[in-house]
Amino acid sequence: MSGRIPQSFIQDLLSRADIVEVVGSRIELKRAGREFKALSPFTNEKSPSFYVSPAKQFYHCFSSGKSGNAIGFLMEYDRLSFVEAVEELAGRLGIEVPREGGQFERLVLEGPLDALAAAQRFFSDQLRKHQPAIDYLKKRGVGGETAKTFGIGFAPDSWDALAHFFDDPAHAIEAGLLRKKEETGRVFDVFRNRVMFPIRDTRGRVIAFGGRTLADDPAKYLNSPETALFHKGRNLFGLFEAKQSRKSALPHLIVVEGYMDTVMLAQHGIREVVATLGTATTREHLTLLFKSTSKVVFCFDGDRAGRSAAWRALEQALPEIDEKRECVFMFLPDGHDPDTLVQEIGAEAFGKLIEQAQPLSAFLIGELGKQANLGTLDGRAKLAGLAMPHLAKMKDSPLRSLLIDELARLTRLRREEFGPAASGISEPAPAFTSQRRLPAEPGAVRAIKRALQLLLERPDLADRVGEIELLAESGMPGIGMLVEAIEFFHENQAAHGGQLHEYWRGTPKAAALERIGPLTPPLDDVGIEREFADAITHLRQKALKARIQGLLDEAQVRTLSKAETAEIEHLTRQLSNRPAV
Ligand code: UTP
Ligand code: MN
Repeated sequence: MSGRIPQSFIQDLLSRADIVEVVGSRIELKRAGREFKALSPFTNEKSPSFYVSPAKQFYHCFSSGKSGNAIGFLMEYDRLSFVEAVEELAGRLGIEVPREGGQFERLVLEGPLDALAAAQRFFSDQLRKHQPAIDYLKKRGVGGETAKTFGIGFAPDSWDALAHFFDDPAHAIEAGLLRKKEETGRVFDVFRNRVMFPIRDTRGRVIAFGGRTLADDPAKYLNSPETALFHKGRNLFGLFEAKQSRKSALPHLIVVEGYMDTVMLAQHGIREVVATLGTATTREHLTLLFKSTSKVVFCFDGDRAGRSAAWRALEQALPEIDEKRECVFMFLPDGHDPDTLVQEIGAEAFGKLIEQAQPLSAFLIGELGKQANLGTLDGRAKLAGLAMPHLAKMKDSPLRSLLIDELARLTRLRREEFGPAASGISEPAPAFTSQRRLPAEPGAVRAIKRALQLLLERPDLADRVGEIELLAESGMPGIGMLVEAIEFFHENQAAHGGQLHEYWRGTPKAAALERIGPLTPPLDDVGIEREFADAITHLRQKALKARIQGLLDEAQVRTLSKAETAEIEHLTRQLSNRPAV
């Protein structure tokens, strides 16, 4: 049998299938409020305790304890393997199951994702028909194989080539591919005369495009607008392709700035590359990167702008580093970007430069050292002062401990002067670094469970949760699962609980979801919304308190900065405001 079934296909399949139909075609279901019930097909029960929820796209059997999504039901009921269950489900819908590496048409769903998938096919097709665009890519050194890997295409020099391609422009407008002129109502193409780079999410679905002009348009690159599907700060160009390039975990991921940098490195066989699309590295980028690798190699220009971009990346990375996660910094020779450099020196020499990249600690101390004259007592005190806030952001890791050793050596201060956790004894790091762990708290646990369960019922509620970082960083036990669920539904608009379950298949989270899933939700939408808002508010209050307490603890051992004092005030105000969700 050929390759694996792409995860994106399984997600699409689940979004099309209806578990009520699937189960209903095998056993008789009766409506019961928001759900359907039946006698358990797995036990010999006399009164029905088998439920199917259309909203969650989940079944739960109280008598046997089994539960799951449509695929899971087919596996249990028809006694199928996972692959067979996927094939059975696809067969019902009349769709062929694609295999990785094979050619397949994407599923046609009705939404902006489909407009994007269709546009990607349109642009690739146009590339084949436009010799000047092919010549441009050739001239830049992009081969056919690489163009195919990235799905590179071409948007013709026309105001309505793509517009004509769609019968109904609504989804393409929503996806930022077409725009409507207010005055005339005419719809026109956003991307014209541009080489098109699809930006894919981690499941391989096209969520946006970047287009490079072939003319001398002042906007050299044009990116899709931020949409519900696409946020620059949350997505990385090339991540899906990098992950596809090998079966096992990626030993490292190189972060570059541009589309062409990523593509050209891949052309030279360096496949573990992603681009930040002209924005600064965000904390969310880091989270995303560390989901796929344990080592991030930042690759920046050697000039002043490059170094300050690297510094901003370092600031985002500090809280993410621990014994398992590493960041290094690589600076390019003057006048080069990764694209031109790899063409000049080749992959092997480029690989050597990666190996020689500067460790985070060296870059941190080097940059801070530039601001302080270590020959004087004042300068050494200044270095210590500059380093403290950065240390405070870090988890208590071996790297942090070594940094403190080095700073103690440079400043001739004692390790203890660098804060409470600096003695090498493992204590929780200060709280505004977000590492403070709350003691297990029944109230919080209950609120997390409740929020999750309501979210399964109404995934759209995910979009109402603001300031997710505050929750994520609160350290409350179990909050990670809720945050991940919220992020999943953010990223996958219109996905349902069954899809989240699929996403977590084989992990403890899937099992936890099965336990939480069947709890009965309140009856109407208003009730669900209110309860969800209450649970989130409860959790936010807890998170706020934890953060404030952390800062106050910190104030016991050192003088807080102005910004930190202001933060306490700001947080305290929020605490008394009891924010709505
Ligand atoms: P660069 O100007 O370094 O582009 O911008 P590049 O990748 O080297 O482009 P080539 O080699 O001239 O084709 C780096 C990145 O910044 C974003 C793009 O993501 C680009 O890849 N950018 C740049 C924009 O979004 N808009 C622009 O007008 C320019
Ligand atoms: Mn370039």
